[in-house]
Amino acid sequence: MENCYDKTMTELTALQTDITRLHTDAIVNAANCSLLGGGGVDGAIHHAAGPQLLAACRALGGCRTGEAKITPGFALPARYIIHTPGPVWHGGKQNEEMLLRSCYTCSLELARRYDIQRIAFPCISTGAYGFPHELAAKTALSTVKQFISRNPSAFNTIYFVCFLPIDWHIYQHLLEK
Ligand code: APR
Repeated sequence: MENCYDKTMTELTALQTDITRLHTDAIVNAANCSLLGGGGVDGAIHHAAGPQLLAACRALGGCRTGEAKITPGFALPARYIIHTPGPVWHGGKQNEEMLLRSCYTCSLELARRYDIQRIAFPCISTGAYGFPHELAAKTALSTVKQFISRNPSAFNTIYFVCFLPIDWHIYQHLLEK
């Protein structure tokens, strides 16, 4: 586990684990705009949370790329799930970076409204959506650091959950700096 304490004393930590197993206030789902499940981490979260999650998501009426919506965690150890559709990578000239930043910012703003102190992000958009791993990690970290510098007491711990070794190595390196 690699971590760093940003000057706001919010702990930023990289973990290499299955996000569905985390006992934390909220985990973030790399969803699609339908919010009706899929593969990857979305599929894993729906499988672990159970059928009540799909019913709850149906009631949300979808979500736009870069925005975020919240449900209970149901059978997950996490209390809440924040669903955010990331951008599909099309080469970087279609606002992909801005939309990915928005996923993190909207998820953190939503978490604040629910008094969530510990939140775990997967590597949004880096799987099926093809976002380059290093750029995604740099975007995620810079966005989160900007948010906590403006909201110093909002969060106790923010986890960056890496499922693949490539992401784990990238986040370890970036968090050591
Ligand atoms: N825990 C943590 N991370 C996971 C897990 C898991 N159980 N399973 C997969 N991941 C990682 C992947 O290895 C990748 O690093 O989540 C990251 C995001 O990959 P995807 O799940 O493919 O998400 P994304 O690239 O944002 O594509 C979203 O894929 O699953 C569909 O419904 C989803 O249409 C949406 C699209």
